[in-house]
Amino acid sequence: MNEEIPNLDGFDEAALDRAFGQLERQAREAAVAVSDEAAVEAFRLEWLGRKQGRLNEVSSRWLKAAPADAKKLLGVRFNALKAVVEVLLDAAAGAGQTDAALKAEAIDITLPGTRRLMGVDHPITRTLNEITSVFAALGYSVGVGPEVETDFYTFECMNFPPGHPARDTQDTLVVAGQERRSQRDRLLLRTHTSPVQMRTMEQQPPPVRIVIPGKVHRNDAADATHSPIFHQVEGLCVDTNITFSDLKGTLDHAMKALFGSAVKTRFFPSFFPFTEPSADVQISCIFCGGKGCRKCKNSGWIELLGCGMVDPAVFAFAAEKQPGYDPKKISGFAFGKGVERIAMMKYGVSEIGSFYSGDMRFLGQFV
Ligand code: PHE
Repeated sequence: MNEEIPNLDGFDEAALDRAFGQLERQAREAAVAVSDEAAVEAFRLEWLGRKQGRLNEVSSRWLKAAPADAKKLLGVRFNALKAVVEVLLDAAAGAGQTDAALKAEAIDITLPGTRRLMGVDHPITRTLNEITSVFAALGYSVGVGPEVETDFYTFECMNFPPGHPARDTQDTLVVAGQERRSQRDRLLLRTHTSPVQMRTMEQQPPPVRIVIPGKVHRNDAADATHSPIFHQVEGLCVDTNITFSDLKGTLDHAMKALFGSAVKTRFFPSFFPFTEPSADVQISCIFCGGKGCRKCKNSGWIELLGCGMVDPAVFAFAAEKQPGYDPKKISGFAFGKGVERIAMMKYGVSEIGSFYSGDMRFLGQFV
C-alpha cells in the first residue's frame, strides 16, 4: 500500500521544497525500478490513480486544507510534481516496450556464423577422374557416348550377333514401343561402355588412344557388391604394331599408378566377344600384399578388369565407315573396368549402395 502522505508542516517555500522534493525523489526511485508492463501499470496506479493515487491524496490532504493565500503556491507545486510523474510514467512505459522489442530482435554477435559446407567430388567421380588422368598422362584422350544406346552399338558391332547366347551375359532394360524399328536400331540402356569404342572409331581413323568413363545398366540383383546401375571406364588403343605386351605394360603401369608401385598384375585367359585373345586382370591384394586375407578370399589376388586384343570382327564393322581399320594393317587392345569396385577397394567401402544413398554421414568422409 501507499506510504502515508505526511502532513505539511507549513506553507512557506522551505516547507514546500522539503515536502514536494521528497515526493519527487520517491517517484523517481519508483520509476527507475519499473522493469515490465505490469510494473508500469502499478506505478501509474500508485501515483496517478484516481482514488488511491498519491497525487490524489496530496490534492485532497494538502490542497484542500491549505489556507486561501497558500493555495496558489501549492497548486503550482502540485502541477509541477504531477508533470514530473507523468513524464516518468511515459519514460517507464516507453523504456519497458523498447527493452522487450530490442531483446526480441537482438542478435548475439558472439555466435558462430552460418557455415557453408564445402563441396567435393563424389568418390565415384573422384575415382573416374583418377583413372582417366592416369591414361591422360599416357596420351589418351577422353570420350563419351550415349547411355541410351542402340542394339547395334551395344551388341551387334561388338560381335554379339542377334540371338547369340553371349547376349545373355548382359541383360538390360529396353525402351518400350519400338516394334516398328529394325532390331539394330532398337534402344536400350547400355550394358557396358564398349559401344563408345565403335562410335569413336567411326569418327576418327587410326591411331586411337581413348578412355571412356560412363554409367552402365544391367539386369543384376543389388547386393553388397552389385548394383544394376554402375560405372565403367573403357579404354581403346589402336595403332600399327600394337601387341599383347603393350596391353600388359599399359595396364600394369595403370594399376601401379592407381594402387601403388608395389602392386603386381597377372593376366588370366578369359572371354569377351569383342576381344581375342581376352584376359581378366588380377592385381596382388592391396590389403595383405599377396599373403592371403579375407578381402582376397585367401588367394592373394583380386580380379579387377577385363581386357584383350580387339577382335578383327570389330575392326571389320569400323572399316565400313573408316577403311583405315583394316585388321591386316592395324591392331589394338581394349579394356574395361568397373569403377565402383576400384573405389570400394581404394576407400575401404564394403557396401556398394553407400555410393548412391546420398547419406551425408558417408559422403562427408570424403571431404
Ligand atoms: N565390356 C566388358 C564388360 O563390361 C569389359 C571389357 C571391355 C572387356 C573391353 C574387354 C575389353 O564386361
